[in-house]
Amino acid sequence: MSVLKVTATAPGVVKLFGEHAVVYGKPAIAMAINKGIRVTVEESGGNSLMIFAKDLEVKGIAIRVTGDSIEGSVINDSQLSKLVSYALTALRIISGKYGGDLRGIRVIIESQLPIGAGLATSAAVSVATAAAYARLINVKLSKEDIAKVGHSVELTVQGAASPMDTAASSIGGVMYIKPGVEIKRLSTSFKIPLVVGYIERELTTGELVRRVKVLYNKYPKVIDDIMNSIGAIVDEAVTALGKGDYVTLGELMNINQGLLEALGVSNHRLSNIIYMARRAGALGAKLSGGGGGGAMIALAPGVEDKVAVAVELAGGEVILIDVDYEGVHVEDYS
Ligand code: MEV
Repeated sequence: MSVLKVTATAPGVVKLFGEHAVVYGKPAIAMAINKGIRVTVEESGGNSLMIFAKDLEVKGIAIRVTGDSIEGSVINDSQLSKLVSYALTALRIISGKYGGDLRGIRVIIESQLPIGAGLATSAAVSVATAAAYARLINVKLSKEDIAKVGHSVELTVQGAASPMDTAASSIGGVMYIKPGVEIKRLSTSFKIPLVVGYIERELTTGELVRRVKVLYNKYPKVIDDIMNSIGAIVDEAVTALGKGDYVTLGELMNINQGLLEALGVSNHRLSNIIYMARRAGALGAKLSGGGGGGAMIALAPGVEDKVAVAVELAGGEVILIDVDYEGVHVEDYS
């Protein structure tokens, strides 16, 4: 049945273990969260493609694409304009592959999360836009297909990206990702009591991935050993997650943070928040995502409130989250 308007929501993602090393083919564990991105795609008539993006603080951006020319009326936010480029790329990939005329399409992107903080908002925009537009043009895609399109979007826009964020956002739950080998959901029958905090970022994920690459090229043996150690942490974490062993998970998070610091992707303010969270009783705390500021997570069974206060006192903003098991979700209106 053809529809005129589709809304897709896709969750944000926290990285429990393995970010950065996953770009080098090591395994990682990521968890979809119950806050994310909502993309509405509709036929509006006219000759151009319109994309609007806004976040909860009511900043916004609008662009009009006619043929190859893009006109923007930007309400000054570079993070939002990046989101638009992920949406535009998702639309182009889907229409290039399956047909579909992008003229006369209006896209509205809304975020429940801070954009560009390392919570996979770019992956969620890519996934939600691909899912919504595919439904609008009546193409049936599985969540795995959408994850693959999302990954191609990230590769096109950023140059380098692992399939981690787009897989977790599209499929949902706690995901084990070993690029090119295996992507599967881990069954966790217990609560993962996480406190998530974030601060402004100094660098984007793309810039940090490039910096790690420079370090890798300069000290291949040293950095390779770090990547292998992060991979080994992930293997241990899979077992600990299976048993609900919080103490081991916390220790592994702390070791993982040490190795991320060695890769140079934390920063002073973020590391300070991580230490404060541990001091307030978290069993483990680490950055989550690309780093350079951005998001951190703390495993805080029974002491969530205390740890959340410590994160706020150290200058972080706390986001309350739970696991999302659904992944991308599409609703259409005929
Ligand atoms: C970004 O959320 C995580 C990184 O590992 C990059 C990637 O996986 O594409 C830093």
